[in-house]
Amino acid sequence: TVNLNGRHYLTDFDFTAAEIHHLLDLAAELKAAKRAGTEVPRLTGRRLALIFEKSSTRTRCAFEVAAADQGATTTYLGPDSAHIGHKESVADTARVLGRMYDGIEYRGYAQATVTELAEHAGVPVYNGLTDERHPTQSLCDVFTMREHSGRPLEQISFCYLGDARNNTANSLMAMGSLLGMDVRVAAPRELWPDPSLVQECLLRGGDSGARLTLTEEVGEAVSGADYLYTDVWVSMGEDHSRWKERIDLLLPYQVNAGVMAATGNPGTAFLHCLPALHDRRTELGAELAEQHGLDGLEVTDEVFESPASLVFEQAENRMHTIKAILVATLGRD
Ligand code: CP
Ligand code: NVA
Repeated sequence: TVNLNGRHYLTDFDFTAAEIHHLLDLAAELKAAKRAGTEVPRLTGRRLALIFEKSSTRTRCAFEVAAADQGATTTYLGPDSAHIGHKESVADTARVLGRMYDGIEYRGYAQATVTELAEHAGVPVYNGLTDERHPTQSLCDVFTMREHSGRPLEQISFCYLGDARNNTANSLMAMGSLLGMDVRVAAPRELWPDPSLVQECLLRGGDSGARLTLTEEVGEAVSGADYLYTDVWVSMGEDHSRWKERIDLLLPYQVNAGVMAATGNPGTAFLHCLPALHDRRTELGAELAEQHGLDGLEVTDEVFESPASLVFEQAENRMHTIKAILVATLGRD
C-alpha cells in the first residue's frame, strides 16, 4: 500500500507512477465526496504557509479552498510581503516556518529555491510553480485527461504545442513519460526542452512504455492526438520585450481550428493551464492584439470557447488534485 505521509512534492519525478495513481484515485474520491456533500475532513488543525513570489489565481485559491474543505488553515505570504530572499535567507525562512506550520507551498523562480526550502523546513514542501517545473499542474492535467476520457493513461495521447521550455511543458512531458502516455511536443527547436530533461523522460518512458515525440512539424505531432495542450508564450519572470520574438517563432504552433482539425480525431479536446491570451479582454491581450494584429496568441478564442475546450473543468481540478496531495502527505486517518 502507498503511504505518502511527510513527503515533499518538488518535481514530477518525486513520486513513483504507483504513488501518482494513488493520488489520482484519491483526488477522484475527494471530488465525488465534495459533490455529494459527504466529504470528511482529514486535515483538521493542520496549518499551511503559502509563499507566492509570483502572481497566482488558481494555485493559491486551490490550496486555500482545499485546506478549508479539509479543516486546515492557511497563511498567504505574497510577493514582497515576507523577508524571504531579500532580508532573510531561504534556509532561515524554512526553519522558522517549519516550526509553526505543518506544510509549506512555494511559488517562485529558481527550482533550487524550493529544493533548499525542503532541505531545511522539516515539514512537507510543495512546489506551486518555479521557472522549471509546475508539478501540481501536471498532476491536475493527467487527472483531467483520465477523468474526461474514461481510459487508462497508457491509452491516451496528447500534444503540447508552443513554448516547450517552460515549467508547464516540462512538467507535462515528465508526468506523461512517467505514466506511460503517448507524449508529443511540437515546438521550434530553440524552444525544445532541456536535453537533460528529455534524457530523463526517455529513461522513465523506458520503464513505463511511454512514447515521446519531439518535432517541429505540427501535422506529424498532432496526428490522432486525444488532447492538444498549450500555454502562454512568455512566462512569468521572463522579459516582456520577448513577445515580438516569441510571436514570430510560435505563431505556427498556435492552437486554432485548423490545428484541431489536423488531428483527424473528431474527439480531440483542448487543455490549457490558464491564464490564457485568447482575446482582447485583458490588458496584455489588448496590447498584443493592437501591436501585432492578432486576436488570439497561443490559442484562438474560437477553440478556447468551443465545446472541445476543457479548460474550466481542468481549472477546478487543480483544487481536487492539490487536496489529494495535502491529504496524502499530511492527513490523519
Ligand atoms: N495554472 C496556474 O498555475 O494558474 P495560477 O498562475 O493562476 O496559479
Ligand atoms: N508558464 C506559465 C504558467 C502559468 C500558470 C508561467 O510560468 O507564467
